[in-house]
Amino acid sequence: MKASLASSFDLARCVSPGVAAQPAYTPGEQPQEAGWTKLNTNENPFPPSPKVVAAIRAELGGTGNTLRLYPSPASSPLRAAAAKFHGVAEENVLAGNGSDDVLNLLVRAFSCPENPAAMLEPSYSLYPVLAGLNTARMKKIPVSLEGEFSVDAVADSGAKLFFLTNPNAPLGIAFSPEQIAAVLERFPGVVVVDEAYAPFADRDATGLLGAYPNLVISRTFSKAYALAGMRIGYALADAAVIAVLDRVRDSYNLDRLAQAAGVAALEDRAYYDDVIARIRAVRESTAKELRRRGWRVLPSQANFLMAAPVSSAGASGPEIAAACFAFLKTHKVLVRYFPNHPLTAPFLRISIGSAEEMQTFLNTIDAWAQ
Ligand SMILES: Cc1ncc(COP(=O)(O)O)c(C=O)c1O
Repeated sequence: MKASLASSFDLARCVSPGVAAQPAYTPGEQPQEAGWTKLNTNENPFPPSPKVVAAIRAELGGTGNTLRLYPSPASSPLRAAAAKFHGVAEENVLAGNGSDDVLNLLVRAFSCPENPAAMLEPSYSLYPVLAGLNTARMKKIPVSLEGEFSVDAVADSGAKLFFLTNPNAPLGIAFSPEQIAAVLERFPGVVVVDEAYAPFADRDATGLLGAYPNLVISRTFSKAYALAGMRIGYALADAAVIAVLDRVRDSYNLDRLAQAAGVAALEDRAYYDDVIARIRAVRESTAKELRRRGWRVLPSQANFLMAAPVSSAGASGPEIAAACFAFLKTHKVLVRYFPNHPLTAPFLRISIGSAEEMQTFLNTIDAWAQ
């Protein structure tokens, strides 16, 4: 009997329609061998604060005996630290296993076949994947390279959830608090301002918290805090929104080490202010070098540059960008190329690494241009 049941098992009929129809998200390449200049997934070139490493060691307690015990289910110490950092109450914070976890919770909580989601395009390509898996439609509202988009189109999209990436990824441009407030005023749903890159920007949307019950800000420790390998993020929102997300998340969505690392990172503001200032300085000097070579560089408020390569003959465009990307990769310099959208196809997205890494990148593009 068992054998015949097993032979008639039809996996395809069991997979939920959203999962069956949705192609998987493609993360940036993560080569595991040494020797790469890795400028493709916006990681931080500096190590995390020594206080973070000490906090992880302390949490392990020498023998690792602490790992027998479950962590704080609500990540309470991390919520408290993030609340203090932003001057909000703990009930306004939810911790996530990376900000991707936060984004996934938002999609699960606020989208379904009857509740479409919306996003600006181009922006983070994970959003439509999460919506698709949840059998929700995703409306895409165009944004220009200058950051212009129609607030009317967002307001009238019929969506219940809208993603605004600020600064935008992959473009790097930032939206003004006035633009964001206009969306919050008009959009009849939850507005997620994904601030993965906001620590590198001049301004952010946190000043709007408290004024808008439909605002959710998501943050990550993967970029500014140099902790992509730990998977830590959080959401800031009205307590009622946080309470909904709390019902959806895994009971223990952050491990002990991640919680301890996140608290220590938020408490070492001096270290990270210095790291961020250095990255911003290298961003500006690299942009200047690229412009000097004739590349079009979008004004970036993030830890990456969106820049259009120019060939020795003075040409630019998708073919030139593809050729430059391939040359860099052959020379073990990894950047990101987004060929599937007409706005992004002439550009490469270059993460800001150390000054030495950026020099390697510049030397390699000079070799390419010759
Ligand atoms: C716009 C945006 N949001 C969220 C994330 C995910 O960050 P995390 O590592 O916290 O999941 C990324 C990662 O590249 C991103 O670019």
